[in-house]
Amino acid sequence: MNDAATVNYDLNAALQDAEERFAAANPKSAALYEAACLRMPGGNTRTVLFYPPFPLSLAGGEGCYVEDVDGHRYADFVVEQTAGLYGHSDPTVRRAVAEALEGGITLGGPTSREAELAELLVDRFPALDLVRFTNSGTEANLLALCTSRAATGRENIMVFDGCYHGSVISFGGYGSSMNVPFPLVKAPYNDADHTLALIEENASDLAAVIVEPMTGSGGCIPCTPEFLKMLREATARHGIVLIFDEVMTSRLSSGGLQKVYGITPDLMTLGKYVGGGLSFGAFGGRRDLMERFDPRRPDAFGHAGTFNNNVLTMAAGAAGLREVFTSEAAERLNASGDRLRERLNSVLERKGVAGRVTGRGSMMMLHLTDSPLNGPRDTNAVRPEARALFHLGMIERGFYVARRNMMVLSLPMGEKELDGLVGAFENFFDTYGTVLAR
Ligand SMILES: Cc1ncc(COP(=O)(O)O)c(C=O)c1O
Repeated sequence: MNDAATVNYDLNAALQDAEERFAAANPKSAALYEAACLRMPGGNTRTVLFYPPFPLSLAGGEGCYVEDVDGHRYADFVVEQTAGLYGHSDPTVRRAVAEALEGGITLGGPTSREAELAELLVDRFPALDLVRFTNSGTEANLLALCTSRAATGRENIMVFDGCYHGSVISFGGYGSSMNVPFPLVKAPYNDADHTLALIEENASDLAAVIVEPMTGSGGCIPCTPEFLKMLREATARHGIVLIFDEVMTSRLSSGGLQKVYGITPDLMTLGKYVGGGLSFGAFGGRRDLMERFDPRRPDAFGHAGTFNNNVLTMAAGAAGLREVFTSEAAERLNASGDRLRERLNSVLERKGVAGRVTGRGSMMMLHLTDSPLNGPRDTNAVRPEARALFHLGMIERGFYVARRNMMVLSLPMGEKELDGLVGAFENFFDTYGTVLAR
């Protein structure tokens, strides 16, 4: 399956052809999808994983490769939306999970494992004096927001257009009608003047400002240092809790993006790879805020969750941070991502494609536009048919990338996979350059 010839007709026709080739090449995925539709709405339990005509059904993964049920093997650049940092078969993580399994799965009491994971996290992230665990990034952000409201006695939350903080805390694209009903002040990402005016105007009612220091699903657009600095100063001045959602970005250095920017929030949230690839979330930060959860206090805040300290996640997460994703490994992976992004951008430049790959370190996203990209608002509208064509085109070339055209690195990737991605990228634009230029 290859569409190597230069395609010279319009984008919709090219996309339709790509979808037809995809459907013909994946009959078993199609059949599984049809069967799933009988019991689940749209055959789906995770909106982000749907794309037309139907998503590939995956049979397994090894290292940094996944295989679908029709027997195609792909270099995996979806990386489970950043959570698959360790790849699919890291021996250290597997050993830790196997040992935890041997020792009993649902123990129902504290173990040494959660204390070890907490120690590794507190040592790593400047914001963390104290930390607590949850089961997902969504839950971590809900807890951070509720902590801010309870601690300040204020109700409102400032959020930024296009940022994503979880299934029911989403401010771009789909899902906003499903959001939790917190009273919101919506502000424009990376627009320091406008945002500062909104903070000043709403300060007495604002419990928290929550921000992704680089948007993840909202386009891999980093905050400018000036914007984050303004948020830090303005929130400190008014006693507003500043929350960095580092669910995705914590992988971008040995201490998250907060370390890169040298700006410490009051609370931060974590998720994704930090549980070694198993369900995970965490929130934590300033001692005086987090101490409120100390159950020895008569006025302690409650925070429950049957699986908060589940032994498999605690073991996998601790082993991964201790032995695999060390500070050196973090710096190496992100330097390799920076080089990859430069190579992809130079392909675009050489071929005169109106587009660029944004991001930082091991997270990046292609945008097929040459307009300014200051925040997620500039990316959401960007040519959905072009996005879809790139997605299917890369799959056809053996590279599993996210529908939103996000590409993420994992630790087992080597030169072979990175060179391969650049080659497939180049081949895609050789084939579709004319179609996309129209
Ligand atoms: C920045 C950010 N925050 C929060 C979440 C939610 O995490 P989870 O999917 O584990 O609930 C995500 C998930 O993609 C995310 O990217």
